[in-house]
Amino acid sequence: MTVKNPTKTPSSGPVKTQVLPADAEGIETAARLLREGQLVAFPTETVYGLGADATNPVAIAALYAAKGRPAFNPLIAHVASVEEALGLGIFSPVARKLAEAFWPGPLTLVVPLSPAGPVCELARAGLESLAIRVPDHPVAQAVLKAAGCPIAAPSANRSGHVSPSCAAHVIGDLQGRIAAVVEGGPTRVGVESTIIAVLDNEVAMLRPGGLPREAIEAVLGQALAVGRDAGSQPLAPGRLASHYAPEHALRLGATHIEEGEACLAFGPEGIEGAHPGLTLNLSPTGDLAEAASRLYAFLRQLDALPSRGMAVAPIPSEGLGEAINDRLKRAAAPRLS
Ligand code: TXA
Ligand code: MG
Repeated sequence: MTVKNPTKTPSSGPVKTQVLPADAEGIETAARLLREGQLVAFPTETVYGLGADATNPVAIAALYAAKGRPAFNPLIAHVASVEEALGLGIFSPVARKLAEAFWPGPLTLVVPLSPAGPVCELARAGLESLAIRVPDHPVAQAVLKAAGCPIAAPSANRSGHVSPSCAAHVIGDLQGRIAAVVEGGPTRVGVESTIIAVLDNEVAMLRPGGLPREAIEAVLGQALAVGRDAGSQPLAPGRLASHYAPEHALRLGATHIEEGEACLAFGPEGIEGAHPGLTLNLSPTGDLAEAASRLYAFLRQLDALPSRGMAVAPIPSEGLGEAINDRLKRAAAPRLS
């Protein structure tokens, strides 16, 4: 294992989290803090990420601690360009094709680790593969370019909470636990990136997300395999069933409302009997991209209301609907702890 910058240490003890504007000065401050080994959240087109220098094990340890995330869960290394990504992992012709078709954008590729690559072992949770992403959000691009190192960035929420789609969600979860958040408004896509593993000549989907399956299969000219567990080490170890759990119980595919239930509706019809004060509609026109972009904010809003659980309307599973239904299923799963 290569331990880089072992002398860099994040500040100890509670910090007041700065909210940085997404201007030149704010970006420069964010990049400096990251280079110093501190934790800085920033917007990507999918959700806000909690960044740390991926080459600095001390910073990565602090990141796991701030999120309350189990250290066996590997992180995605974010870089600003395809060229930089190619230096981190081993890209087969198929992996390269996907990188060139969809980066920058809401796609994460898991490829074999480049032996000379700089990402520290802790950020990879000891795996010999690496998850890499080139986000297209202008603020993420600016932060990554200014930082000049790969940035590990899980979603900027406490482990087990819903992912943040605006800076206020980040502050709500991580205030006092991280150095700063760059304020970049609500995120465009709203659900995390699609994760595709390109290992051993197989192309498998590990997580549905912001890039629809159909777009990837069109470029590949073939159907994606389903991600499998690799022995004792699950392929996407972070895919715990209860990963996205709100406080209230969710009832999926609901076509009616039970007494006292809040309602997450979709499409022009809504759900019969829904209480207007307890209802939010992900997309009254039935637009799945709009629904994805609102999903986490609406789950948080409904979860904050006094209700006897949440009824969720049926949502079609094509396009971004696959990721929406995946997250809803996880939000509805019983807690592990
Ligand atoms: O949209 C996104 O992907 C956001 C933004 C911030 O980029 N990031 C994100 O990161 O969702 P995170 O840490 O919440 O989810 C990363 C997932 C986890 O389920 C993890 O287990 C999986 O990627 N992962 C990371 N490295 C892996 C590897 N080498 N093999 C398989 N799965 C991996
Ligand atoms: Mg996450």
